[in-house]
Parts: sequence; structure tokens; C-alpha cells
Amino acid sequence: MKKITIAIDGFSSTGKSTLAKQLAKHLGYVYVDTGAMYRAVAYFAMDNGYINEESFDKETLINALPDINLKFQFNPELGFAEMFLNEVNVEKEIRTIEVSKFVSRVAEVSEVRAKLVEQQQQMGKDKAIVMDGRDIGTVVFPDAELKIFMTASAETRAQRRFDELQAKGDDVSYEEVLKNVQERDYIDSHREDSPLVIADDAIEIDNSYLTREEQFTAVLELIEEVTKTV
Ligand code: DC
Repeated sequence: MKKITIAIDGFSSTGKSTLAKQLAKHLGYVYVDTGAMYRAVAYFAMDNGYINEESFDKETLINALPDINLKFQFNPELGFAEMFLNEVNVEKEIRTIEVSKFVSRVAEVSEVRAKLVEQQQQMGKDKAIVMDGRDIGTVVFPDAELKIFMTASAETRAQRRFDELQAKGDDVSYEEVLKNVQERDYIDSHREDSPLVIADDAIEIDNSYLTREEQFTAVLELIEEVTKTV
């Protein structure tokens, strides 16, 4: 079967990464979670004191961008690649509610986006890739053969994220998670640079009422269709 590029975009916690991982495994493709890259930069900014509840020193973060080295390393035990920031595994650190609170503000910075988009395009230059994020079908790979846009209600998404955080032992309330989901939706879709919008040629999937299996089967059918025509 011909190798293609699969772009999966959508709001937070719509199950993009679950679907992307399933597809990559099934097709033998590389999976790239671009949200992890933005999260790692946000974590770097927090760790160095460039961003907190009161302030955000954008200039210092922009000047420090050359010092940020991001790498994915496949962990065979987990079956997916983990995020390394300057050679340190930060997979756990980047998934906290604290990082979620600041990441959308860091992702608004054009210089941050330019650096990450360039790295993402490099990773996908040989196709056979499933990449998920907010701007993959619109900015990173506007020529992707298959573009999926995933949606689900804010409440469904908050409940999923809340369950995940609770399972990890994070002390967080459902209301706090819902507020974070709604705030990120707003910032992600209203920022000036590469806002979250549905690409003209993307296929929308609302997975509020779909099981993982139903969703996976539907997308595999789309892939078969697409690979017949490219
Ligand atoms: O997918 P996620 O929730 O882990 O992403 C975290 C944040 O990163 C999200 O709120 C917006 C930002 N992001 C982005 O701006 N562009 C991407 N391609 C991926 C994520």
C-alpha cells in the first residue's frame, strides 16, 4: 500500500492520540504527538521561571529557543515514543494540569511555532507518518493525503481528561479540568498564528458517541479509499 501522511487535528482530549497511535501501530507508521512538543517547551518555560500565574517573559523564552532540544524516543515497553527535553525524559512532567494551564499561552508565540513546525515537517518528509495536533492539516502538512478533524463535547472531553489525571493520582477536580479544557479551546482557536480551524478538505469525526473500535474502523476505511487514489 502506498505510504501517505495522515494529519489528525482537533480540540484537546478528543481522543486524537489514541486514534493516531492505533493507526500508526496498524500501518507500521511513525506517530508524532505535536502537543507533547508544545508541552515540553511550556515545561521548559515554567522550569526556568519564564512563565507563572502572574507573568510571561516571552522575549527571554524566544532568546532561549536555540537551547531547547526536543527528541522523541520510542519505548518498546509502552509501544510509543516518549518526549525528551535536552536529553531528559519529561514524559510524566509534561502531562500535569500545571503544564496544561500554561501551554496554550506558550503555543501562541510565533517563534515557538516556527521552530516546532520546522522540526515536524522534517520528521514527516518521508511520509508514512501519523501526526496529531491543532495545525497539522492546515500548516504543517497542507498536502496531507488524509486529514481528520476530531470533535467531542467539552464535557465528554473534560471527563476523559479527569479520569486520566485521577488514574495517575493527580489531585484535581472535574470543574478545574473542564475550565482548563474550555480555556484552551478558546485560546487555541482564537490565536493569531495558526489558530485551530478545520481544513477545507478535512473529514470531521465527532466521537462523543463512537467507541474506539468504531472510530478506528471508520478511519481505516478512509485510508483504503485514499490510498487507492494517490
Ligand atoms: O494535544 P495537547 O492537548 O497535548 O496539546 C497541548 C497544547 O499545545 C494545546 O492546548 C495547544 C498546543 N498545540 C498547538 O498549538 N499546536 C499543535 N500542533 C499541538 C498542540
